[in-house]
Amino acid sequence: MSLEVIILAAGQGSRMYSSLPKVLHRIGPWPLLEHVVKLAESLQPTRTTVVYGHGGDQVRTQLAHLNLDWIEQKERLGTGHAVQQASDVIGSDATVLILYGDVPLLSRQTAVSLLDLVKAHPSGLAVLTVMLEDPSGYGRIVRNPDGQVLRIVEDRDCSPTELTICEGNSGILALNGARLKNWLSRLENRNAQGEFYLTDIIGFAVDDGVPVRTVCAESVDEVLGVNNRLQLAHLERVYQSQRARDLMLQGVTLRDPARVDLRCELKSVGRDVELDVNVVLEGSIQLGDRVRIGPNVWVRDCEIGEDVEILAGSVLEGARIEAGCRIGPMARLRPGTHLKQSVHVGNFVEIKNSQIASGSKVNHLSYVGDAEVGSSVNIGAGTITCNYDGVNKYKTIIGDGAFIGSCSQLVAPVRIGQGATVGAGSTITRDVPENQLTLSRSKQVTVEGWRRPSKSTQEA
Ligand code: UD1
Ligand code: MG
Repeated sequence: MSLEVIILAAGQGSRMYSSLPKVLHRIGPWPLLEHVVKLAESLQPTRTTVVYGHGGDQVRTQLAHLNLDWIEQKERLGTGHAVQQASDVIGSDATVLILYGDVPLLSRQTAVSLLDLVKAHPSGLAVLTVMLEDPSGYGRIVRNPDGQVLRIVEDRDCSPTELTICEGNSGILALNGARLKNWLSRLENRNAQGEFYLTDIIGFAVDDGVPVRTVCAESVDEVLGVNNRLQLAHLERVYQSQRARDLMLQGVTLRDPARVDLRCELKSVGRDVELDVNVVLEGSIQLGDRVRIGPNVWVRDCEIGEDVEILAGSVLEGARIEAGCRIGPMARLRPGTHLKQSVHVGNFVEIKNSQIASGSKVNHLSYVGDAEVGSSVNIGAGTITCNYDGVNKYKTIIGDGAFIGSCSQLVAPVRIGQGATVGAGSTITRDVPENQLTLSRSKQVTVEGWRRPSKSTQEA
């Protein structure tokens, strides 16, 4: 039995009040629609078709990396009309699973349960329902006294009795392709909203003697759709608590699971990793054994080796940090930073596109850009690599064991020899020889007879 997935994503999302199409708003790392596509992919379908409408070009461009077929629904005439647009490409032998592009957190397990029902009863139809405290807005599942599904009635078409039904339609369903095509061709729009309702196929199934079976969602959150920013924020929290839970079960300590944000793909995570509050991880992240990240730290696209400690308030992007490094507090590592083992980077230090070899230290108030720093180098407080002449960037090379005195400026391109010492406050514009002291600063003088003006003499 082959599987085809159709994702309905032509909704306008007017209640988002956004220039971004609704399905491109993010939960965690991905747009809403990408969550749904990832779920679909995990079910290994032969084809996934997205029915798009509003903001379609933007959606297609942003999700161009996904393997999808796109079909436009030019006019938004209802969920049934949306699926009709895909009717020609639906395989008659396939099982078709219909998902919503704005329902991002459906669990794989639930989708599999629905598909299993169709696998066990290939001629039948399987609908995902949900028990709701407040079912308003949802289509209601109408059953006969024996519990068999008779039809789905939309909220606006419900009789007073039907309005009291608490079993709602999630909108997600699975069935055989040939049957779906047949029922789609029979849809009409004689209802309160003048729309072609996909839900009417449930009534057709019953009329045709086709059994309708249901799976009930484990939680309401997995079938919730996003229509406004309140719902987006709610599902973000649900998603974050699921990720936090997964991480803790993998052995990571979260000092407060409600105050960590995972907008990343965690490529790997070691043992005894500890994340303090307000850590935000984005992009692609690797964390080695015993990595400890302090409070208020933002990390994007970094590879962090074992026993690395990142202290409060640091900002790290595109960096590779080898074992035993200590970063921060309040350090900034920018893309292209590669710190080898046991490097220390302290407060108010910015490093960009530079390699720093093992055991070196940049502990205070420095800028290191486009540099190649050897091992066991000490870069004193306030050192600046002057890497930019307003047009081009130049490289600074510092040999092993060099010592750069505080408040020095290294005007690139420049090379500091191994074991060299640069005196504090130097402006270095030419290469510095190995193992010697180099200074560039004016001689210190004391001015005889000079007096600092004082307030009392001014007033006199
Ligand atoms: C739909 C169901 C309802 C169910 C509810 C669950 C129908 C008729 N009603 O109602 O039974 O309880 O979802 O949330 O199916 N869409 C299109 N093109 C359209 C219309 C909708 O692509 O012309 C897409 C939307 O982008 C969305 C999904 O279909 O992803 C559902 O549309 P929505 O307008 O939210 O349907 P509801 O009226 O809420
Ligand atoms: Mg809806």
